[in-house]
Amino acid sequence: MDRSQSIMQVIQGRRSVRAYQQRGVTAAQLTQILEAARWAPSPHGRQPWRFAVITRFELREHLSNAMAVQWRKHLALDGQDAATIDIRLAKSRQRILGAPASIIACLYLADLDYYPDAERQAAETTMAIQSLGCAVQNMLLMTYSLGLDSGWMCAPLFCPDVVRAALELDTALIPHALITIGYAAHDPHRRERHSLTDLVVRWE
Ligand SMILES: Cc1cc2nc3c(=O)[nH]c(=O)nc-3n(C[C@H](O)[C@H](O)[C@H](O)COP(=O)(O)O)c2cc1C
Repeated sequence: MDRSQSIMQVIQGRRSVRAYQQRGVTAAQLTQILEAARWAPSPHGRQPWRFAVITRFELREHLSNAMAVQWRKHLALDGQDAATIDIRLAKSRQRILGAPASIIACLYLADLDYYPDAERQAAETTMAIQSLGCAVQNMLLMTYSLGLDSGWMCAPLFCPDVVRAALELDTALIPHALITIGYAAHDPHRRERHSLTDLVVRWE
């Protein structure tokens, strides 16, 4: 498949992949993906994101096991039965272990502006999160244009302390997303999009 070229082809072609081939991802590919993140827009140009790259199987397993402990507790709190919890945890584990590489996108707030009032401080934090989304999207698009695929897992957002501890990350980093990267095992089902008529609520 020719993924080269028009920006719209890359935007529309990018898809969430949840099962990968065993074929590995090179350090050079990962560097290109991270380089794309580096050029994302950010509030005041402060670049409030940092990235942890994990490719070693043992580390992926360690992280997956650590997150599973927390997720099991959350699912039990939701009232899910033990069999369903086991199935969901096994799927999540398979997604992380089945991907040859993952990038953990972390929020880094230390360089942002400080405001004396909570409202503006919250807006500043929101801007940083929006910017993290831009950085991740850059990575997803670059990944796709390299012939690879990616999948966004929000799990770290629900257990940032666990991820930080498992990967020995600095306390100033807030893990927000785990992006799996690899060669797709098969073409995934794509979700329909709303029409522009639905999305644009006012044009002048
Ligand atoms: C902030 C965010 C969090 C997401 N979290 C998950 C997730 O935890 N698990 C998952 O399978 N997909 C997750 N996704 C991927 C969406 O399910 C996916 O983008 C959506 O279904 C559209 O499919 P597509 O990416 O193939 O176009 C997430 C996407 C975003 C933007």
